[in-house]
Amino acid sequence: MDQYAVKGGTPLVGEVEIGGAKNAALAILAASIMTDETVLIENVPDVRDTNVLMQAMSSVGAVITRIDRHTVKINGSQIHNLVIEDEYMKKIRASYYLIGALLGKYKHAEVPLPGGCNIGVRAIDQHIKGFKALGANVRIVHGAIVAEAKHLTGNHIFMDKVSVGATINVMMAASMAEGKTIIENAAKEPHVVDLANFLNSMGANIKGAGTDVIRIKGVTKLHKTEYMIIPDQIEAGTFMMAAAATKGDVTVKNVIPKHLESITAKLIEIGCEVEESDDAVRVVAAKRLHNTQVKTLPYPGFPTDMQPQMVAVLGLAQGTSIVSESIFENRFKYVDELTKMGAEIKVESTMAIIDGVSKYLGAGMTVPDLRAGAALVIAALAADGFSTLDEIQYIERGYEDLEYKLQALGAQIERVSDETQLKKFQLKVG
Ligand code: UD1
Repeated sequence: MDQYAVKGGTPLVGEVEIGGAKNAALAILAASIMTDETVLIENVPDVRDTNVLMQAMSSVGAVITRIDRHTVKINGSQIHNLVIEDEYMKKIRASYYLIGALLGKYKHAEVPLPGGCNIGVRAIDQHIKGFKALGANVRIVHGAIVAEAKHLTGNHIFMDKVSVGATINVMMAASMAEGKTIIENAAKEPHVVDLANFLNSMGANIKGAGTDVIRIKGVTKLHKTEYMIIPDQIEAGTFMMAAAATKGDVTVKNVIPKHLESITAKLIEIGCEVEESDDAVRVVAAKRLHNTQVKTLPYPGFPTDMQPQMVAVLGLAQGTSIVSESIFENRFKYVDELTKMGAEIKVESTMAIIDGVSKYLGAGMTVPDLRAGAALVIAALAADGFSTLDEIQYIERGYEDLEYKLQALGAQIERVSDETQLKKFQLKVG
């Protein structure tokens, strides 16, 4: 199994281009089968999650043509099967977006209960509540969600919890329901807005995405479109944190700075300089950073998907920091790995209490999930000496060419497949 080998201690310097947003792409790819016409989608990140979702879509009859690495054409007119197989669901949780898409278009979908990153209980009650409110009969049969309806009818839905997934799933189904739907307490994440813009470009009538009340007038048919996915907020944030942890100077290009505001604010608070331009942010960390408090919250709050990377940075900042995780209750599993590098972090329930150390020391680590993996890479880049990271397939779920992008910033990181390659890397970087 491949590993990352890292020799840390080099400040990252230079420019990096951010790709399309994985979480927006997952929703948009799923929604693209809601028309029988051919849809062109640009800026699709070439990561495992999007690729597995496209395989799941092909397995039910969608015709997907890759025009280039980041552009796909999708035609959903040949869909012949409304049952998604378990193998896809086990690999990516977001295959459940096919429930909203298939239910909206065909009024029937069967999708196994989701897997995904193991970061806590990930309920789907709000998705089911939303589908039921639209008139669908939803049952769990042999571990699969079966949703069907004669007609879907718009309704007034109050989400008990702010959920990105439920907002997206219900928005898709409601866009092809009869009449008006109002989703209250909706998620406001940039990818919710991107999906609404995409559906509207296909002829849907969705207003208010990006606020907590989304109003949808159902339409009977959607049509072809050409659409470019927004840049990835979390990939951008990860490079910003990598610059901070390594005392670097990195310009993160092709971003929407507005989407990064909560991350930028925290970095400024702990002593980084952050310069924003129209579509880039430059992060400079010239001196030792200092402590702060962070609480993860739904957008526009600090994203839970940036929590591990922030902890990796704060582990090196002077003073005691507190990071509270309010979205997922089991998202500090990587802390044991950071401890192997000398971090001084105590986890109490959903809170990490971090006593900043002056340096990390390289160690052998195992990646527990996607964003924790990014945090461990950041820590290894900042550490003195060699580190290895196992189970990097989790990182590949959401980061395209991570090691190449880091190498271009001066990082000494390589993917190695065996002992010989590891030794070679160690000899090379000394
Ligand atoms: C999405 C993102 C994920 C991110 C998360 C929070 C995708 C593919 N994934 O995940 O990267 O970490 O948003 O920003 O976009 N909940 C319920 N009932 C439900 C649904 C959710 O109680 O029916 C709870 C969850 O357990 C969690 C919270 O609501 O505690 C937020 O979850 P949600 O926003 O739904 O996350 P995902 O859509 O799974």
